[in-house]
Amino acid sequence: MQGIQIIGMGKALPARRVENEAFTQMVETSDEWIKSRTGIQSRYFCKEERQMDLCAEAARKALANAGVCPEEIGLCVVATITPDYHTPSSACMVQKLLGLPEDIPAFDINAACSGFVYGLEVVSCMLGSDALKRPYALLIGAEKLSRIMNFQDRSTCVLFGDGAAAAVIRPSDAHRFFCRLGSQGNAEALNAPGAGYPEPYIHMDGRKVFQFAVHAMENGIRLLAKETGVSLDEVDQFICHQANERIIRHVQKKLKLPAERFFMNLDQYGNTSGASIPIAMAELMEKGQLKPGTKAFCLGFGGGLTWGAAYLEF
Ligand code: ACO
Repeated sequence: MQGIQIIGMGKALPARRVENEAFTQMVETSDEWIKSRTGIQSRYFCKEERQMDLCAEAARKALANAGVCPEEIGLCVVATITPDYHTPSSACMVQKLLGLPEDIPAFDINAACSGFVYGLEVVSCMLGSDALKRPYALLIGAEKLSRIMNFQDRSTCVLFGDGAAAAVIRPSDAHRFFCRLGSQGNAEALNAPGAGYPEPYIHMDGRKVFQFAVHAMENGIRLLAKETGVSLDEVDQFICHQANERIIRHVQKKLKLPAERFFMNLDQYGNTSGASIPIAMAELMEKGQLKPGTKAFCLGFGGGLTWGAAYLEF
């Protein structure tokens, strides 16, 4: 089966960085609580920036990094739960901002924090289709979660951040790709009502999501190892959704794997939902830790409740 290769990445963050201390002015909380319960120290929030601006900046950087021009893009997908418009999609706005061709599909995926992993599977299937006339796909994970956060709810407002990252992807016989996705309709554990509803903010039962997350990640890792034949010792990077240091550490310890193979940057960005996995990937790439031959497991979980597990070769 044909695989995919990520040939370039780029990330974009709003200009405004917010430290934990700032939340002590809004709700009853402390830097110590936030750090010890989550690992988060700071995050970025948009001021003037639109979600589509973050998408476009990340995409431009990814195209430059890959050495690909906008005219060569055959598919544009954005994983997000915070598009600027219900319609047009963020992908259509990126198409406009970057001047992508007009005879290509452009659409958003709503799978919350699993969105980028869902996007990898969608892109891998579509890149194999004769319907695509150009060789590359643009996959972006982007969120402006500050728009749907209740800054009077201490159990959620300290957790999230805004940001985006993009990947340029091409089909490849030399790079295996394998993915499994799942969902269980559950609005009690996590929901964000649409505009027009009362309190259109993120509501979350943190403990329920925590329990779901550790199971989804552990099961996802075991499933990938079984289905791909790649043993856990062979995996160079476990690129996990960056929600909570304790979730990642719990899974790493349960599977008795070395901590250094579980990259973390949530201390700087908080939980950026659909953007968290590609931002982590972009940073690993910047650090030269996704070299040719690197094997990675990507694990996403979040609202839906959804989960996604993908095996990628670099
Ligand atoms: N500051 C101080 N105290 C707080 C805060 C805060 N910011 N938030 C909650 N507390 C209090 C609670 O009120 C509670 O007090 P109580 O015992 O008197 O009732 C106490 O701290 C413990 O609360 P818990 O919810 O049990 O804390 P927990 O250790 O579970 O940590 C957290 C909460 C960080 C939310 C954790 O459960 C978590 O990370 N869950 C997973 C979240 C996640 O992964 N989401 C991903 C999906 S996001 C998406 O899809 C958009």
